[in-house]
Amino acid sequence: MSRIVSSWRADFPVLATTMHGKPLVFLDSGASAQKPRAVIEAMDRVLSGGYANIHRGLYEISQNLTAAFEDVRVRVARFIGAESEKEIVFTRNSTEAINLVAQSWGRTHLWEGDEIILSAMEHHANIVPWQLLAEQTGCVIKVIPLTGEGHLDLSAFEQLLSEKTKLIGVVHVSNALGTINPVEAIISAARAFDPAIRVLVDGSQSAVHMAVDVRAMDADFFVFTGHKLYGPTGIGVLYGKYAVLEAMPPYQGGGDMIERVRFSGTTYKEPPYRFEAGTPAIVEVIGLGAAIDYVCEIGMEAIAAHERALLDYATPLMNTLKGVRIHGPENTAEKAGILSFSVAGGHPSDIGMVLDQCGVAVRTGHHCCMPLMEALGVEATVRASFGLYTNQDDLDALVAGLNKARMLLS
Ligand code: ALA
Repeated sequence: MSRIVSSWRADFPVLATTMHGKPLVFLDSGASAQKPRAVIEAMDRVLSGGYANIHRGLYEISQNLTAAFEDVRVRVARFIGAESEKEIVFTRNSTEAINLVAQSWGRTHLWEGDEIILSAMEHHANIVPWQLLAEQTGCVIKVIPLTGEGHLDLSAFEQLLSEKTKLIGVVHVSNALGTINPVEAIISAARAFDPAIRVLVDGSQSAVHMAVDVRAMDADFFVFTGHKLYGPTGIGVLYGKYAVLEAMPPYQGGGDMIERVRFSGTTYKEPPYRFEAGTPAIVEVIGLGAAIDYVCEIGMEAIAAHERALLDYATPLMNTLKGVRIHGPENTAEKAGILSFSVAGGHPSDIGMVLDQCGVAVRTGHHCCMPLMEALGVEATVRASFGLYTNQDDLDALVAGLNKARMLLS
């Protein structure tokens, strides 16, 4: 069999560097992905050749940058299958997008005793904003448990639906396990039960690993972040169905989100601008646009197929390593490019430190999913997460590093 290579690897300058004198093996893209030259250069072009504030200046560079900024909104809408760019709100990251929904939609639609259903697989970003809301409103959080095989228990989910259910928040692809959750089935069950239930899908990992179509899945809200999608930090996206956004009050107040300000009262712009107070992350939006162009040129299906081939290669290999236990679904067709595992006799942090010395970057810990770790009965795992630049050499280096760690720690 021919080796799995990535024809896009050379687009990422950082991958030619070293760590502890060893070629960098970057397997922490789930935390934040490396940036291709196309993104670096697009941001550099703005900063060195045409930067100004947007939406405010009548002069040419401001007008040009405003048009470029708004064009990214159109490309984001196309990228996730939204009906209109008016459904795309720029936020700081996925976390801010969820907080926006909790504080704007949640504070005006949820009352004491109303119920929110989350899953046991959620990132803290899709738990804590709802807990804050529960403290403020008296609403109640219910949790979809896991099955023994580490999937969401869909029949338990259906039992949780009640006439008090107002919102379901579910992660599309688990950042800690890679599990692809059946969000379409969850949404259609919710719709069948009560069409008024709103569903928020956390797409922070899915938007990176697979093609996403928010209209086909029928999500009310979908959030993702730029820095995991080969774009810059500081920029995220909230998609909301327009009618839902239209019924939401502002999240933050300030410049650019108003129609008319008087001390006797202020009127607000229509979505998405109503939710974008203050000078936005202009350069980062341009970087996000370049990242989306970059992955679209490759094709999300091609990226998903490449990462699947890597998973199919690494999974049986890891399973041959004595003491290594992969968490999450065994079937690689049910996962995106994330391998989360425990090593018998080795604390994840110790494994991570040995791997670091071998030039291999992984994340160790609870992956901002403490309730999931509790449900799995572990404190932490080691997580190797792939990007479109990952290749078979990276995975062989991981296995070699693990062998070394097992030897040193036994
Ligand atoms: N949410 C990021 C991760 O999974 C930071 O590592």
